[in-house]
Amino acid sequence: MVSDEIVLQIEGLSKIFRSLFAPTGVKAVDSLSLSVRRGETYSIVGPNGSGKTTTLKIVLGLIFPTSGTASIFGGNVADVSVRERIGFLPEDAYLYDVFTGEELLDFYAGLFGYPARRRKELVDELLSLVGMQANRRVPFRECSKGMRQRLALAQALVNDPELLILDEPTSGLDPAGRHQMTELIFELKRRGKTILLCSHFLAEVEEVCDRVGIMYRGRLVAEGTLAELAGAPTEIVITTSGLAPEGASRVGAHSAVLGIDGDAVRMGQESSDELWSVLDAIREAGARVGEVRRPRPSLQDVFVRAIRQDAGEQDVAEEVH
Ligand SMILES: Nc1ncnc2c1ncn2[C@@H]1O[C@H](COP(=O)(O)OP(=O)(O)O)[C@@H](O)[C@H]1O
Ligand SMILES: [Mg+2]
Repeated sequence: MVSDEIVLQIEGLSKIFRSLFAPTGVKAVDSLSLSVRRGETYSIVGPNGSGKTTTLKIVLGLIFPTSGTASIFGGNVADVSVRERIGFLPEDAYLYDVFTGEELLDFYAGLFGYPARRRKELVDELLSLVGMQANRRVPFRECSKGMRQRLALAQALVNDPELLILDEPTSGLDPAGRHQMTELIFELKRRGKTILLCSHFLAEVEEVCDRVGIMYRGRLVAEGTLAELAGAPTEIVITTSGLAPEGASRVGAHSAVLGIDGDAVRMGQESSDELWSVLDAIREAGARVGEVRRPRPSLQDVFVRAIRQDAGEQDVAEEVH
């Protein structure tokens, strides 16, 4: 359940990196403002280099912003009392190679001061949550990328954090690994965790998040629930069967029809009279009508539209997966 309480508030955040190669600076984050409420899963999506990791690092207090603020639980991330309520999965989780999953989690539980008895229970709980019970004694260096990522997530959960920050949780995973990670995020969400994640991979994010912020060149170019971002459906799609080329050209000549892709006839959001008349035209062409749908644009479409608008219609397709 998402509550009204703001867990994370980012206001006017900017970060300029200066280096020998860029003496005038690289504006990695540019006037970014967003907030995440308790119980919410918020995803920052954007192509590589748009400033997602930099934003998360600032939120975690790992680097300082050039200007602006990020407050967590109404406080400062520099405070230990705030930090201990946060879990973090970094982009390239570095874990001690010689450890097994079991040893690793026991080690971190020790760092957080859990007594030995509780530590054993906690390690068991975490291993079963991330599906690593059977492989608990496999050394980290012998684990697959998916197993490593799940152990890294388990490590981020050792302190039972209220806020989880996940940097590209599914990157580098195969489809099965991505599916497992998405299921895990769902489970954590069900357990009431507030989650801020970032991803350049759109498909899975679509399923898990309550809200999405689209980040491009350091700026938030669009934000909202998927339904809000996608807007109202703009087309009606009618699936047909048995539509021969000659019939298709007659249906295609109907003024309300926008186009025909294989068996799918696309028409605009016209009146119901127009819809009936297109359905009649399909039947008269000797074809059968299957399904009539009003599809919403996918996150991918929304994403491309948002950054195209921002970039002033430049060709940005290459930057988008
Ligand atoms: N330590 C750094 N020094 C200089 N430039 C950096 C540094 N870290 C990130 N950048 C630059 O900032 C921009 C945003 O990077 P990053 O936040 O890693 O993007 P994302 O996570 O969205 O891929 C990129 O242009 C990147 O090259
Ligand atoms: Mg990144």
